[in-house]
Amino acid sequence: MKNLLVIGSINMDLVVKSDQLPKPGETLMGTSMETIPGGKGANQAVAAARLGAGVTMIGAVGNDGYGPLLLEGLKKESINVDYVAVEDNISSGIAIIHVDKAGENSISVVPGSNACLSRDTVKARSEQVGGADVMLVQLEVPLETIEEAISVAKSSNTPVVLDPAPVPTGLFPEFLYNVDVFTPNQSETLALTGIRVVDKASATLAGLVLLDRGAKYVVIKAGDLGAFIVTSGSDAFHIPVFPSSVVDTTAAGDAFSAALALGLAEGKPLVEATRWACAAGSIAVSRAGAQPAMPRREEVDAIVDL
Ligand code: RIB
Repeated sequence: MKNLLVIGSINMDLVVKSDQLPKPGETLMGTSMETIPGGKGANQAVAAARLGAGVTMIGAVGNDGYGPLLLEGLKKESINVDYVAVEDNISSGIAIIHVDKAGENSISVVPGSNACLSRDTVKARSEQVGGADVMLVQLEVPLETIEEAISVAKSSNTPVVLDPAPVPTGLFPEFLYNVDVFTPNQSETLALTGIRVVDKASATLAGLVLLDRGAKYVVIKAGDLGAFIVTSGSDAFHIPVFPSSVVDTTAAGDAFSAALALGLAEGKPLVEATRWACAAGSIAVSRAGAQPAMPRREEVDAIVDL
């Protein structure tokens, strides 16, 4: 069993379904509202565990009503939560998610306790970083914490998969490119490079920009186009999407990143690991919610082998 370390956010998602996503200034009638465990870090931890990894999570919940529920959910997936802090006097991270009838979403995150995950906490966990086969990080916790995590991983030769989501406002720090696999989606790629990825040519252009900034490999999550792998000196390699009926795209990218990281930890070549990741993402979009939608290994294997 491979060991994945996930450093990142843990949120409770407040999910409102409506026929369309609200436009600025518009009031829409929703059709349902649910609270569902989410957070990019926690979603990736759950996906990795269901796909067969031993997972340790470093994060923080609040001492509100959601904190214990979020922790329990992670424990039920056999995720090691010894390094998930319960912070006093602050609420857990919250995401307000709108999902329309086509399964598209828009998300606003209030970090709450995720903002308490400090550089020093990560520094004190260098043993866990060094002992991981792969470390997975995203950007819903303080950037200086991610900077520390990347630097500790580098000094212990632990490969890093970075999901640059959400792209921070302002200048994107250079150290975030200093990772093994950089996995933006189309809108993150557009924000970072100004290039809209719509085909192999545009994926090659955008990928080369990101490689030039320091990433070793770039894997662009391209929604219903599948994914594009860009490595130095060659054109993008396209992995087509696995068809599925879209119910809710929330956390599909998290399923993808977790599968990609685990696939690489298990020694799959990058193309094969990305195919596996596309399959994981396509299962996630066929189900509602974040953590409940994360796929299991046998489901992913079944569609990859078709
Ligand atoms: O990637 C999906 C996740 O983004 C949601 O679960 C939400 O919590 C936000 O972090």
